[in-house]
Amino acid sequence: MYDYEEQQRILANVKLNEDEADNILRPRTIDEYIGQEKIKSNLKVFMHAAKKRGEALDHVLLYGPPGLGKTTLSHIIANEMGVDIRVTSGPAIERAGDLAAILSKLTPNSVLFIDEIHRLNHSVEEILYPALEDYALDLVVGKGPGAQTMRINLDRFTLVGATTKAGNLSAPLRDRFGVICRLETYRPEELAEIVTRSAGILNIKIDADATLEVARRSRGTPRIANRLLKRLRDFAEYEDSDAITLAIARKGLRLLEVDELGLDNVDINILRTVIENFNGGPVGLDTLAASTGEDANTIEDVYEPYLLQIGFLARTPRGRICLKKAYDHLGIPCGNREDTLLKYLDRNDDAE
Ligand code: ADE
Repeated sequence: MYDYEEQQRILANVKLNEDEADNILRPRTIDEYIGQEKIKSNLKVFMHAAKKRGEALDHVLLYGPPGLGKTTLSHIIANEMGVDIRVTSGPAIERAGDLAAILSKLTPNSVLFIDEIHRLNHSVEEILYPALEDYALDLVVGKGPGAQTMRINLDRFTLVGATTKAGNLSAPLRDRFGVICRLETYRPEELAEIVTRSAGILNIKIDADATLEVARRSRGTPRIANRLLKRLRDFAEYEDSDAITLAIARKGLRLLEVDELGLDNVDINILRTVIENFNGGPVGLDTLAASTGEDANTIEDVYEPYLLQIGFLARTPRGRICLKKAYDHLGIPCGNREDTLLKYLDRNDDAE
C-alpha cells in the first residue's frame, strides 16, 4: 500500500538543514544533556517509573523556540527507555492514511516523534486521538451508506510532540499529553559548557574567554552556539592559529555580523523598521513582515522570542513595540516615546 519511497517521505528526517556534525554533537544520554535541569529531573523520574512498570512512557509535549534541543531530547528519551524511535513532522503527514501506516508499524513501547506537531491537519489529528488514548485506530472501511468503522488495536507507544507554538495546538490534542515541558533559553554558563563539550568532540581548541564570548552571543540557543563555534574554527584556521582566541572570536563575530548581544542583521532590521518606519510601534506582525521582507512565521518563531526575552520588543494588543533598551542599543534617541510605549505596555495582557 505504501511503497518504500512514500514511507521515506513520511518518515523524512525533518532536520534537513542540519549538517552531519550536529548529529555528532547531540548528547545521547540525559546525563550528557546540559541545562533544562527541571525537565531532566522530572523526565528521569517518569522514565524510571515507566521502565519499572514495563510500560511505555506517557505522551510528552516539548515546546519552546527553535534550536533548544527538542529533537535531541526525543532521541534521548528513546535511548534511555531502550526503545526504537520513528521521526516525522506535522506537515509531512498529509493524509490520515499516512499516520495510520506509521502507527501500525511501531514496535511495542517505541517513541514516535512528531516535530511541528501544531501543523498536523485536522483529519490526521482525528486519527491520533484514539491512538493516544486507547492505542487503537478507528478506520472507515468502504464508502457511502455501506461504510463501516473498524477498530484496530495498536501496540503501546509514546508520542513525543514538539512545537514552537504551543498556543496553536488544539485543546483536545494538548490535553492528551501526560507530560508537558517548556524548554527555556540557556544561560551563558550553560552555553559555555555546551561549547566546551562540542569543541572537545570536534577537536577544536578554544580559549576559555573566547568560549564565554560565543556563549554570550548565542541568544540562549545551543544550535547557534555550535554554529558559531564551527564558523570561528574556520577563522582560526584561516589565520593559521591552532586555537580560537578571544581576539579571533571577536573579529570573526564582527565579520559574521553578530553583535555584542548576539543580534544579527535580521534582528537589527526588525528593530530599525519598528523604530524608523512605525515610530516605535505598535505594528502588527504581518505589516512588520511585509516591511522587513521577512516571513511572519520566521519573525514570530525565530527572531521575536529572544528580542522579547531581552526586553527590546514587547507585544501589545495592537502589535509589536520597541522598548527603550532597543533604542539605546541602536543609539537612537528614545525621547518621550517612552511614555507612549509604557501606555501600550500597561495593556499588554492579551497580545494579538
Ligand atoms: N548540544 C546541543 N544541545 C545540547 C545540550 N543541551 N547539552 C549538550 N549538548 C548539546
